[in-house]
Amino acid sequence: MFTKQTLLAFIGALALGAAKTITEQNPTQAEIDAARATALPYSPVSNVKGLAFDRFVDIWLENTDYDTAALDENLANIAKEGILLTNYFAVTHPSEPNYCAAAGGDNFGMDNDNFNQIPANVSTIADLFDTKHIAWGEYQEDLPYAGYQGFRYPLSGPNQYVRKHNPLVLFDSVTNDAVRPRQIKNFTTFYEDLEHHRLPQHMFITPNMTNDAHDTNVTFAGEWANRFLSPLLKNDYFTKDNLVLLTFDEVGNYSVPNRVYSVLLGGAVPEHLRGTTDDTFYTHYSIIASLSANWGLPSLGRWDCGANLLKLVAEKTGYVNWEVDTTNAYLNETYPGPLSVNDYSPKWAIPTVKGKCSAGHGIADVVKKTYHGLEPTFNYTSPVPYDSATGLNLGIKYHRTLKQGKTESGITA
Ligand SMILES: *[C@@H]1O[C@H](CO)[C@@H](O)[C@H](O)[C@H]1NC(C)=O
Ligand SMILES: *[C@@H]1O[C@H](CO)[C@@H](O)[C@H](O)[C@H]1NC(C)=O
Ligand SMILES: *[C@@H]1O[C@H](CO)[C@@H](O)[C@H](O)[C@H]1NC(C)=O
Ligand SMILES: *[C@@H]1O[C@H](CO)[C@@H](O)[C@H](O)[C@H]1NC(C)=O
Ligand SMILES: *[C@@H]1O[C@H](CO)[C@@H](O)[C@H](O)[C@H]1NC(C)=O
Ligand SMILES: *[C@@H]1O[C@H](CO)[C@@H](O)[C@H](O)[C@H]1NC(C)=O
Ligand SMILES: *[C@@H]1O[C@H](CO)[C@@H](O)[C@H](O)[C@H]1NC(C)=O
Repeated sequence: MFTKQTLLAFIGALALGAAKTITEQNPTQAEIDAARATALPYSPVSNVKGLAFDRFVDIWLENTDYDTAALDENLANIAKEGILLTNYFAVTHPSEPNYCAAAGGDNFGMDNDNFNQIPANVSTIADLFDTKHIAWGEYQEDLPYAGYQGFRYPLSGPNQYVRKHNPLVLFDSVTNDAVRPRQIKNFTTFYEDLEHHRLPQHMFITPNMTNDAHDTNVTFAGEWANRFLSPLLKNDYFTKDNLVLLTFDEVGNYSVPNRVYSVLLGGAVPEHLRGTTDDTFYTHYSIIASLSANWGLPSLGRWDCGANLLKLVAEKTGYVNWEVDTTNAYLNETYPGPLSVNDYSPKWAIPTVKGKCSAGHGIADVVKKTYHGLEPTFNYTSPVPYDSATGLNLGIKYHRTLKQGKTESGITA
């Protein structure tokens, strides 16, 4: 009889790189202090022009449904400064698979917040950015040092930093690399990078468990967002040609549609669109697709491939987004997969290696090379993630009218 913990340690000892050892998962304070003394945050800069923005900042709050967030005074005031996305969906429950989805274009059946590790043959947004040397980084509040891979910090007491809210650290293709972990930094380094004008062009920002509403509520998170964003949006260096997305990982009530309050802010939002709403259907996967379309990057060939693009970007590329009838859209469950506890299945989903995808630049070479000749597991060209085999997210209709007047329609079936 093995507990999950000892089993992981056992596998870790057998196959280095396959599973983290106990020390990496649950280090001692002394080990953390020693690592902190030598950890070197890495802050590359780049200046690749984008079609709609030159920098993108993704900030995630926690566990709040759209209507509850809309009642919050701070969030409502923030929305007046930007574009409120009224039809933006998280992709499942609980937290971690949503963060995973935002970086990898899939969640591999994850239905838990465990110490999940995704094999090195799965690509992420970091691989997409690297194709054009677009500097990227993460800022995780209360991460004890750049590249920390432990389950949480501090080791006990109230939650501050938690690994489940850190998208890229879940992927072996990031953590096995000599440099990439150093681009996963904390808020101390954020303010240093801001001051020295070395923020990356893509950053993912995770406030701690108090500030993001996880251990508090949306009132607290709204106050935090206002405190954090107000000075930044007035800072010319930060805001120039910058698009900021403030959103939530998921809703807190699993039986309601997974629609989350989301606002686009920053200097890249045209003046005439401030204080407006956009009711295009989006998911967390739309953000990967929009980054690809904005900077001319390929797709991961997963759910980002068919996802709608942020309107600001679609208008630049001419891509026609799908209008999705959300009557049956809950997006509150996950299909079976290797990271599922309740519906375990050993097969890592195969991405598509063909097609242009909504962003228009085809599939990343590394993905084509790894998966050539294999059939994709899901219909990744759909704007809505679904699984015919297990009946997930079925019966969702969508249609669009192309420029030439031709109408197309589909249904997840
Ligand atoms: C990717 O890695 C996983 C885990 O090692 C393995 O099961 C899978 O077969 C690999 N996929 C491909 C296409 O090599
Ligand atoms: C943030 O990371 C830096 C660099 O790794 C580290 O020196 C610093 O102590 C960390 N700050 C906090 C508040 O943990
Ligand atoms: C979360 O961060 C804030 C500063 O932003 C800090 O005051 C607070 O103590 C942190 N939360 C916890 C539980 O330590
Ligand atoms: C959040 O908690 C605070 C303090 O406990 C309370 O005053 C506030 O009404 C709560 N907000 C919501 C939306 O429940
Ligand atoms: C969750 O939503 C369902 C369906 O609207 C509702 O019946 C239930 O009371 C909600 N649960 C909580 C804890 O708010
Ligand atoms: C998803 O929502 C539907 C409709 O409310 C509900 O029947 C189902 O139980 C929910 N799934 C989960 C995992 O809570
Ligand atoms: C996959 O999705 C696309 C785009 O919606 C649709 O046109 C196609 O019919 C779907 N393919 C299958 C096999 O369902």
